[in-house]
Amino acid sequence: MLPITEPLQASEIRRQLDSATLLALNDIHVFPELDSTNRWALQQCVCGDVCLAEQQSAGRGRRGRQWQSPSGVNVYLSVRWCFTPVPEHLPLLSLVTGLAVAEALEDCAIHGHGLKWPNDVYYDGKKLGGILLEAVGSLEQVVIGIGLNVNMLSEAGAEIDQPWTSLQQIAGKPVERNVLVSAVLQRLLKRLRGFSRLDMAQFQQDWRQRDVLLGRQVQAFSGTETLQGLASGINNQGQLIINFSDGSIRNLSSADVSVRI
Ligand code: BTN
Repeated sequence: MLPITEPLQASEIRRQLDSATLLALNDIHVFPELDSTNRWALQQCVCGDVCLAEQQSAGRGRRGRQWQSPSGVNVYLSVRWCFTPVPEHLPLLSLVTGLAVAEALEDCAIHGHGLKWPNDVYYDGKKLGGILLEAVGSLEQVVIGIGLNVNMLSEAGAEIDQPWTSLQQIAGKPVERNVLVSAVLQRLLKRLRGFSRLDMAQFQQDWRQRDVLLGRQVQAFSGTETLQGLASGINNQGQLIINFSDGSIRNLSSADVSVRI
């Protein structure tokens, strides 16, 4: 097992948050190990709680996949958030979360990353992080789960079954996880606080700037069919727009998308 570099610490994370974020947050729970921070947050957290773990034994990914979660090197973070009332553009929440993560990386002087619809943080064609939203019964409460590959090197990530990278591999030096978590919370809570007043034009522009699929020929697997076409951005419902060579257009709500080479 690799040594824990700098441990995650609630006090250290809090110390770096601005007053608006501190006000919006409730507790920050940090565990040496959990099965899944999302599972724990769904069962134990109250609104505004944050849950972090040094490792996960059953980290959850999209579409029932497992999220590889080795100890002491990455960020496994869940935030439980409550909306009253449920905002009309709730389907955009996972994309808005992606924007917050991308902005937080920029705050930490990391550049060159982008967002791959719907939920992936990408760098140079490799996955850097993922987002998994889970609803708590009614849609008024959600758990926002974020996994980021931070100081993971090839050995620890050997079991990951897709191209991946980590911030340390990009930056060439270890990244302080408490600083990164603070940056993510700051950006995420700012976007959550303003979510019911989402500026659609600004949101579209922010996404467009970071959209790694835009203008690329892609293959999209929806679960039942595979489609091939030109990725042409997202619409106001957060659906991926695909243009086909016969001139037709489809808007996808959910799919696994890869760029065709
Ligand atoms: C994906 O498949 O891309 C989504 C991965 C989400 C992983 C994070 S790690 C923190 C949180 N807890 C989980 O069990 N999953 C999410």
